[in-house]
Amino acid sequence: MKKKIGKNFLWGASTSAYQVEGGWNADGKGPSVQDANAGGFIAELNFDGITDFKVAADHYHHYKEDVALMAEMGFKSYRFSINWTRIFPTGMDKKPNEKGIDFYNKLIDELIKYNIEPLVTIHHFDLPQGLEDLGGWNNKELILDSYTKFCEVLFKEFGDRVKYWQTINEQNMVILFGHILKRQKTGVDEGTKMYQIFHNMNVAQALAIQLLRKMCPNAKIGPAPNISYVYPKTSKPNDVLAADTANLIRNWIYIDILAKGTYDQILLNFWSDNGYDIKITQEDMDLLKSVKIDFIAFNYYSTMTVEAPTSDKEYIVGDQQMGFNLENMFQSATNEHLEKTEYGWEIDPIGFRMTCRALKTRYDLPIIITENGLGAKDVLTSDGKIHDDYRIEYLRQHIKQIPDIINDGVDLFGYNPWSAIDLVSTHQGISKRYGFIYVNRDEKDLKDLKRYRKDSFYWYQKVISTNGENI
Ligand code: BG6
Repeated sequence: MKKKIGKNFLWGASTSAYQVEGGWNADGKGPSVQDANAGGFIAELNFDGITDFKVAADHYHHYKEDVALMAEMGFKSYRFSINWTRIFPTGMDKKPNEKGIDFYNKLIDELIKYNIEPLVTIHHFDLPQGLEDLGGWNNKELILDSYTKFCEVLFKEFGDRVKYWQTINEQNMVILFGHILKRQKTGVDEGTKMYQIFHNMNVAQALAIQLLRKMCPNAKIGPAPNISYVYPKTSKPNDVLAADTANLIRNWIYIDILAKGTYDQILLNFWSDNGYDIKITQEDMDLLKSVKIDFIAFNYYSTMTVEAPTSDKEYIVGDQQMGFNLENMFQSATNEHLEKTEYGWEIDPIGFRMTCRALKTRYDLPIIITENGLGAKDVLTSDGKIHDDYRIEYLRQHIKQIPDIINDGVDLFGYNPWSAIDLVSTHQGISKRYGFIYVNRDEKDLKDLKRYRKDSFYWYQKVISTNGENI
């Protein structure tokens, strides 16, 4: 008999602190890399959205109303992140900021009031600028100390109510697209630096896991990478080989180390072939070997397609979801079988199932979707409606895969698309909307920030109330 979606399946949605909260300097909050660089470096990249994160969706002041709307949709879970600089304004403060802790206590209590499971991301792209000034993730000693102190406060203050923790959002996208997502002038081109950051982040995650086991033995923890299964453009063996390498470099190395405690030989070869000198101690490797994640949270927007590198092909260069190239290893290709969103991201629901299967085969761990969704320029009509049938269609096609994914034997325990409510995109402003709830503002004009239920709001409400039967 076909397996069905279980009754405890975590239907919900996601946000991240800096993209939704606003209150950028409220109650003692310090500046993060996002506050410090918004509208600066990013403007040079020539993307059309230049909104900063000062007000965002003003969730900091609207959280009660927002949680009530989530409850009205029937959410069983809500994935959000903690703004590091609300807790430690410079990242290195002796004591945590009580008012920052208060905010998340109130938010968590509000969620629990409605039986919504809080799924907490410890760190989502908003490193304290104070730490960044001293080298950030590249300053190993400093960052390990600061990140573990941050975790310690979170586990101590919220561990009585939070059962699910994610260590770092999209570590892989930070490494590969740091220049876009973290607003730093770094990218894969600075190999040694970026892979040192990769390793430092792995050690930090291992320390967080170790700490959680000690402080909250019943809680669960996992990473939250962005996973896109990589297809070969053709069945030519060199294209298939290129896809295998791309899968490893884009996806697996970010989970292998936390699930198996090892770095793949192909990665080690890639580092040495390119002269990347990554400082890794035996102590680091012993620590990494000693911890194990409980689940894999992952963000899925699309698949990626690659072919073997050639010198005469035009390289596809885009944002975090449009693919990337590695010299002599693989280069991105367009998948002619897929349609694209208005922002150029390929839409691939079957790829969603394929990605889940690949994760099961490689790790055999429970998985949860912490992002999936469609960015679009929604229109608020004069009678207060938002007819986002394109978003409903995107989500429907992906949700339709869930019973098959579960029937494939994958332990998929929740679906939390991006985003619960409209928020500011990483690099394309507030007009690239993802939410079920519309927030009345545009790039420059904050208007009244009033909340409106989109058509997708009512649709998702029905999906949840029928446990995915009525889509
Ligand atoms: C993911 C991030 O990469 O995709 C989110 O975790 C982000 O923070 C989401 O907002 C959608 O990307 P974008 O660039 O359209 O905001």
